[in-house]
Amino acid sequence: MMIVAEEKKSTYRDYAAPQRANAVDTVREFYRLNHQNQTHDFVLNKKAEYLGFNRTTMTPWAALEFLNTLVDDSDPDIALPQIDHLIQTAEAMRANNEPDWMVLTGFIHDIGKVLCLFGEPQWAVVGDTFPTGCAYSSKNVYPEFFALNPDSLRTTLQTLLGVYCEKCGLENVHMSWGHDEYLYHMLKAYLPLPALYMIRFHSFYAWHRENEYQHLCNAQDDEMKPWVQRFNPYDLYSKNPNRPKLSDVKPYYEELLAKYLPTELKF
Ligand SMILES: [Fe+2]
Ligand SMILES: [Fe+2]
Repeated sequence: MMIVAEEKKSTYRDYAAPQRANAVDTVREFYRLNHQNQTHDFVLNKKAEYLGFNRTTMTPWAALEFLNTLVDDSDPDIALPQIDHLIQTAEAMRANNEPDWMVLTGFIHDIGKVLCLFGEPQWAVVGDTFPTGCAYSSKNVYPEFFALNPDSLRTTLQTLLGVYCEKCGLENVHMSWGHDEYLYHMLKAYLPLPALYMIRFHSFYAWHRENEYQHLCNAQDDEMKPWVQRFNPYDLYSKNPNRPKLSDVKPYYEELLAKYLPTELKF
């Protein structure tokens, strides 16, 4: 499994590529719904609803198997089952001798998408994330759709800091709700801090790629950002049509899951 060559990277996350017009229409509609509906109050309500983890318990494998049925509307680059994306991400890390906790992180980073299993629409599960409760950066994807968000009319939420204090730390920021934040809370007792940052902020492109929202970041965020940036190419550029065989790699990942995680996870 190879990370794609440098010259091909520019074709990923290119939302305007004409050869993918249909896929791009789906993605655009996805972000219209996402930006319109992800208000600050929506996020607070979803946290209250989900972060008690009292719905069900599942083994990590059961969650992975569910993901096989899901195709992510926010992603212009992949129409493969999610499990293939997770194996490709993790195998690329493994081939580069990344630490084993990072390989594990690659393998599980999207299992929070089981939120779809609980009936959540895709706009409340996947896609790039952004801070709610403060002004929107124009470097978020499709920023024009924030005009549809009712928070854009709440002046107290549209100052640079909004409900936050300068350098309050991303741990205190209410990001738009989705699989990243959900899985972070599920796994925060089990994985090292860089792994938790990779999980929680891997879709926060305005921060890790565009260097926006620095006024909300503290020293820990600055220290952890390079880890999130190190994670990102594996998430993006390991996507390819070669479908890895789960049976070939299953024993390795079973061992890795057992090393770091409990047998059953609470959802
Ligand atoms: Fe993700
Ligand atoms: Fe991913």
